[in-house]
Amino acid sequence: MTSELTVVVLAAGGGTRMKSRTPKVLHPVGGRSMIGHVLRAVEELAPQRVVAVVGHQRELVGPHITDLAPEVVLAVQEEQLGTGHAVAVGLGALPQVTGTVLVAYGDTPLLRGATLSALVADHESSGRAVTVLTGQVDAPTGYGRIVRAVTGEVAAIVEEKDATDEQRRITEVNSGIYAFSAAFLADAVTRIGNTNASGEFYLTDAVGMAVADALGAGAYVVEDAAEIEGANDRVQLAALGRVLNDRILTGWMRAGVTVIDPLTTWIDADVELAPDVTILPGVQLHGATSIATGATVGPDSTLRDTEVGEGATVVRAHTNLAVIGAGADVGPFSYLRPGTVLGAHGKIGGFVETKNAVIGEGSKVPHLSYVGDAEIGESTNIGAGTIFANYDGVNKHHTSVGSHVTSGSNVTFVAPVTVGDGAATGAGTVVRGDVPPGGLALSAGPQRVVEGWAQAKRPGTAQADAADQAGPR
Ligand code: UD1
Ligand code: CA
Repeated sequence: MTSELTVVVLAAGGGTRMKSRTPKVLHPVGGRSMIGHVLRAVEELAPQRVVAVVGHQRELVGPHITDLAPEVVLAVQEEQLGTGHAVAVGLGALPQVTGTVLVAYGDTPLLRGATLSALVADHESSGRAVTVLTGQVDAPTGYGRIVRAVTGEVAAIVEEKDATDEQRRITEVNSGIYAFSAAFLADAVTRIGNTNASGEFYLTDAVGMAVADALGAGAYVVEDAAEIEGANDRVQLAALGRVLNDRILTGWMRAGVTVIDPLTTWIDADVELAPDVTILPGVQLHGATSIATGATVGPDSTLRDTEVGEGATVVRAHTNLAVIGAGADVGPFSYLRPGTVLGAHGKIGGFVETKNAVIGEGSKVPHLSYVGDAEIGESTNIGAGTIFANYDGVNKHHTSVGSHVTSGSNVTFVAPVTVGDGAATGAGTVVRGDVPPGGLALSAGPQRVVEGWAQAKRPGTAQADAADQAGPR
């Protein structure tokens, strides 16, 4: 793009139909807020400046935008007097603009950067005062209709409320996204009035002005009308979420990822997958999750902000802020909480919960255990039913277990405690003190047997009979 580009994103409206305490544009789709998607699409154009017009719940919307894109200028529209007024407020927050101004809304999460680029390129090569992005839809109700002259030229945009019955039958609709010549727009917003069915300042009137002034108004028709759809309520939000998910899955499948069941697989927009990853049914990948080549995830797993190494296997797991090493094995039924780092070829097995646990290369926690606030060295085996007792009711404490340790079943490590390399702990040991390298810790006393206890204390029971049947003692 040669010309200077300014983008105005309108996000001051209320979004009452969401029936939510969360502002409409902050509702997430595919793991990203709706306005986050729009800002990403806008970023692809590398505009000179972006201004977001905020109003309703701006105390939430403004900081969210600044968080995502600190360079975006915020303009406050105190009262939502209409889209024309909103654009005037946006321009008012900037020094005089030249070149092209792109206007978009904050609630169209499927909008693609490539579409915006094509709109701007079409506009700039045409020399028109305005080019509106339009779409052909089956159900045009609620949208402004594109009225074309017999020649096919765009003549005006008529809002639903102001349209005649004949105009309401038009299926080409206004997306609300436009490329304007900056000079024309700056002048047009001062001339827009509010004498219409809603009493609002309609930005759409600028199109009629360009026609009347013979400055040129045209339309760029989007191929996929889903791109211009906004989510006004939760039904539309879910529908757009489904479309976005399909788009994301299709992209990954084309990039070499096997997705066995796209209908039960949900992948957020910011997830990264390598070729030859396999996703089994019932998987949700959220946030900044990344999966390396050859890894298999699923069935039925939820991963958030998790890094999965090359060739690893994750089966029926729930993970959050975890790192799973190359060739490691997780699941089934494992819960990896924040700070879990499983080394290469390690294992976190069935009914194991981990938190803030660094488990070294080749080390295994195979069954029924809790590992919290711990570091385990390499090639160590933690027996079934082991608990890292990290909490004394007031503070959390750390446990360190060395490399090549063999730890028996049903051991409790009472933190803080350190177990040296090559040490061992016997089954049922409560490890309350440090164990030196190579040492064996035992805390269970010698076994005591009371002979004939069943016959003496439970005479006449099946238990006593069974003992008798077993023969003389
Ligand atoms: C608008 C268009 C309509 C188009 C439709 C596409 C006008 C007059 N009509 O109608 O032709 O088909 O979008 O969705 O422009 N906003 C503000 N400040 C305001 C008013 C609106 O920031 O004072 C923002 C809203 O937050 C929203 C967007 O502008 O993101 C559109 O506003 P909305 O009231 O929903 O316009 P529509 O009636 O849908
Ligand atoms: Ca709308």
